Amino acid sequence: MKKCVLITGAAVNTGFGIAEKFAKENYAVFVTSRYLKDAEDAAQKISQKYNVVSKGYEMEGSLCEDNLKKVFDDIENSGYLLDCLVLNAANLGINQEIFSVSVEDFMDVINVNIGWNFLLCRLAAKQMIKKGDGSIVFINSNTAYRCIPNRISYSASKSGALGLMRALALELGKYNIRVNAVLPGMIKTDRWQNNVGNIQKAPSACTPIGDIADFEDIANAVYYFGSELSKNTTGAELTVDGGNTIQLYPIIPDEN
Ligand SMILES: NC(=O)c1ccc[n+]([C@@H]2O[C@H](COP(=O)([O-])OP(=O)(O)OC[C@H]3O[C@@H](n4cnc5c(N)ncnc54)[C@H](OP(=O)(O)O)[C@@H]3O)[C@@H](O)[C@H]2O)c1
Repeated sequence: MKKCVLITGAAVNTGFGIAEKFAKENYAVFVTSRYLKDAEDAAQKISQKYNVVSKGYEMEGSLCEDNLKKVFDDIENSGYLLDCLVLNAANLGINQEIFSVSVEDFMDVINVNIGWNFLLCRLAAKQMIKKGDGSIVFINSNTAYRCIPNRISYSASKSGALGLMRALALELGKYNIRVNAVLPGMIKTDRWQNNVGNIQKAPSACTPIGDIADFEDIANAVYYFGSELSKNTTGAELTVDGGNTIQLYPIIPDEN
């Protein structure tokens, strides 16, 4: 049986890059989006370009386990049991200012980035137990440790998701299911490419490597955790941020 992976929020950006990496490694690739057409279009691109099985699923970031289970059941009914689950989708919680953010908007971010991911892990783990092993990879963020303005619930959710990752690694180790997290810094998505000031100044002043990540940089780290390459690693974090997290002060170029 061919290996297979399920990647959430994989119609565009980093998720699509991760899907391409697993397709290159000859996995069957299942992708989700909140929009069926986007998921199906992404799956079609993957299967045409890499000649692998690929299918797109509509999946809300909802806490209804019965609805989410339908995706896992369909994968199993197609003759697959998941080797890897990549939790890429996230509610980015942009512009959540401390005094104006509503509790509902705050909790939406927590619910998607922690509650929803927990349910997906539980469903995936049940399938992986039938198979005898598996790997779950959280796409986290270096904002779990170092914050950016007006992203309060996002930072809180990413820190909390690291705790979830470690607790799941502990619970699932006995089933030979590994759970790890990749922590990107800035990634070259449209959002950053359009954020001209940040993309030019932030990497050079605050990032030892001097550049931000391509999708491929994140995808390679995810593949490491997702595959046998890391078969003795669980509960671990791999930061892919050009060293952004370890630098305390921005480097201000000498004007002379
Ligand atoms: N970009 C960065 O600089 C950066 C830095 C650090 C960490 N990360 C992390 O890397 C991952 C991918 O980031 P990205 O920038 O490539 O992301 P992105 O495309 O903006 O978001 C990933 C996908 O998440 C889905 N999504 C958004 N809101 C959602 C919600 N409320 N419920 C369910 N799904 C939702 C969207 O898919 P659909 O619209 O198709 O449903 C979206 O395409 C995320 O976990 C992010 O936190 C990104």
